[in-house]
Amino acid sequence: MEKQPVIALDFAEFQEAEHFLNQFAEPLYVKVGMELFYQNGPSMLYQLKEKGHRIFLDLKLHDIPTTVRKAMKGLASLEVDLVNVHAAGGQAMMEAAREGLAQGASGVKRPSIIAVTQLTSTSEHQMRSEQNIQTTLIDSVVHYASLAKKSGMDGVVCSPKECKAIESAIGEPFIRLTPGIRPAGGDLHDQVRIASPKEAQQLGSTAIVVGRAITQSEDPVQAYYDIKKEWSGLE
Ligand code: C5P
Repeated sequence: MEKQPVIALDFAEFQEAEHFLNQFAEPLYVKVGMELFYQNGPSMLYQLKEKGHRIFLDLKLHDIPTTVRKAMKGLASLEVDLVNVHAAGGQAMMEAAREGLAQGASGVKRPSIIAVTQLTSTSEHQMRSEQNIQTTLIDSVVHYASLAKKSGMDGVVCSPKECKAIESAIGEPFIRLTPGIRPAGGDLHDQVRIASPKEAQQLGSTAIVVGRAITQSEDPVQAYYDIKKEWSGLE
């Protein structure tokens, strides 16, 4: 399968997302997050699917196992390609998420499911002082990745800088989807643990998520193809 960067459609209005997507001549892999989903509802997903786009529904579920199981059953029926939870919700919650997905996906392909380890906007200092996790950030990420694997997750969300350690601890196949991607010299915005598309490729990301570096670019189509080329190792 051709390597496509996943574009984060972080827009408040679906019309803005449509306007953005209309600039592209080909179907894309898009990420629908809380901002777009909560304000526009599930029907917009069908419109994206009609245009041939693949969808990562990034709602990062984190609740008691029963609630997550039922929510995932509903999300599976939306026929998206990828969903996620927070690994911090624990093994029982992740197992319930997978069960719910399998229940909801009867007759359709089960979406893949991945777990967020530590958000790429979190620094080690913050993790220690705010979450009171007294280890290194990389240890925490690898710990959550191992728990995710044990709980039946198809992979994790992490920073490119953590991919090698996860690969050594867990092996393949295991999705290592990495946000926090910034072309060299690009604005960091609120991200902390960042890497360029080329670094992400070299460090072992299996998929990259890119938002503002494309959506807020003066020429989003050019920015997308530049990032795609760099990410595919063609540069
Ligand atoms: O604009 P930017 O490229 O920073 O957008 C990254 C996207 O990835 C955002 O939609 C954000 O919610 C999401 N994300 C992240 N870090 C994670 C998980 C998801 O930045 N660990």
